Amino acid sequence: MTDLDIRVLDDAHFRAAHTLFRSTLHHGPSTDEAWESVGISYRSGQALGAFADDELVGTVQTFPSELAVPGGAVVPMSAVSRVGVRADWTRRGVLTALQRAQLRAMRDAGDVASSLRASESVIYGRFGYGVATRYREVRVKRVETRSRLPIAGRVRLVDAERALPLCQELFDRLSPGRAGTIARWPGHWDVNLRRVAKEENLRFAVASGPDGDDGYAVYKVTPGSWEHGHEKPTVLAVLDLWAASPRAWADLWTFLLGVDLVGEVVAEGRPLDEPLEWLLADRRGLRSVDLGDETWLRLLDVGAALAARTYRAGEPVVLGVRDRFLPENEGAYRISAGGASRTTDEPDFVVDVDVLAAAYLGDVTFGALAMTGRFESTSADAVARADALFAVDELPWCGTYF
Ligand SMILES: CC(C)(COP(=O)(O)OP(=O)(O)OC[C@H]1O[C@@H](n2cnc3c(N)ncnc32)[C@H](O)[C@@H]1OP(=O)(O)O)[C@@H](O)C(=O)NCCC(=O)NCCS
Repeated sequence: MTDLDIRVLDDAHFRAAHTLFRSTLHHGPSTDEAWESVGISYRSGQALGAFADDELVGTVQTFPSELAVPGGAVVPMSAVSRVGVRADWTRRGVLTALQRAQLRAMRDAGDVASSLRASESVIYGRFGYGVATRYREVRVKRVETRSRLPIAGRVRLVDAERALPLCQELFDRLSPGRAGTIARWPGHWDVNLRRVAKEENLRFAVASGPDGDDGYAVYKVTPGSWEHGHEKPTVLAVLDLWAASPRAWADLWTFLLGVDLVGEVVAEGRPLDEPLEWLLADRRGLRSVDLGDETWLRLLDVGAALAARTYRAGEPVVLGVRDRFLPENEGAYRISAGGASRTTDEPDFVVDVDVLAAAYLGDVTFGALAMTGRFESTSADAVARADALFAVDELPWCGTYF
């Protein structure tokens, strides 16, 4: 095979890298207008390219972020995105070479973790990524059900230009907060909301209470139609919703469920434990139509990650960790209610780093992972001790797509 050269990309290659990435998703190049907003999300040092005979054949990118972990601490994290290998170069180790370089670069830069959204679930486990948060998609038949509550505060519509800084400021106040939530990097708003708001008819609803603005929802309404004698309902899609208090949360949903001439309210990517059905007059008006993997998490510095989160009361356990890509993570870690640190003790059981990532935020138990053959343990007691220590009160959730 031709030697691959992995290089840090600079301005001269950003547009070509983006075009390559889009082509791997079967899209054409960005228009000049789209590039105006997308281009600013390419920053020096954050994109890698794989070159074969001086030709760009693969690319990956990172965005600087932070991740909230159980207990409320926040650790430096890179959000990995725009992963693509040219179709005539796939399955020849290009992504593996890019991953190897990227994992090393992120770890050396001081990131404790990295995370991504996976196009296919079979790709990233081998590089140490595990599914650490999940989302659910809900559909509410609005004609059948309404909110049980009146709006207690105030919800007002704000035009995009004024709403965007307001939403951004509110978001930054609320996230990273719940374990699994992340900080959004500057270009995120430009690419995901500002640009879309220009192209599509996005609406911004801002909630306020006695202490001022405390939540927002971004939504889009797609008018219904008649097609072949069948009615397609008008759909209100909730794209982003964050609330600082239960009142703001209920007010925003009550508002969204009350918008006239809407047949269905749809929200993708919501937390599994969001109690929306309890807010409805008729809970069966809501259907959970999808439950998917959200955050694929990679612990780059296992020691720092384990030390950053808190643990519940319980007997200590010693975890062994295997990591093919970052061998400095390999070893044993003693976890107790008081914290976590490296140890020379024999581990009670050993897990691959992707398995540890899956359990790290508390979304899945070690018990479930052992039961499904993700690791072997001769001690059910040790697995139960680990589960007692890693247990969390609130399910982790990210809520930011990238
Ligand atoms: C996913 C993608 C980046 C993989 O790149 P690649 O260069 O083919 O990956 P590699 O050759 O390094 O593969 C490494 C291993 O992963 C496996 N693998 C990679 N992608 C896979 C896929 N989509 N399905 C199944 N296995 C896959 C390879 O078979 C190989 O396995 P092995 O180590 O047992 O031999 C590439 O297929 C692609 O660009 N796909 C379209 C865009 C996309 O989905 N991007 C990801 C966005 S999150």
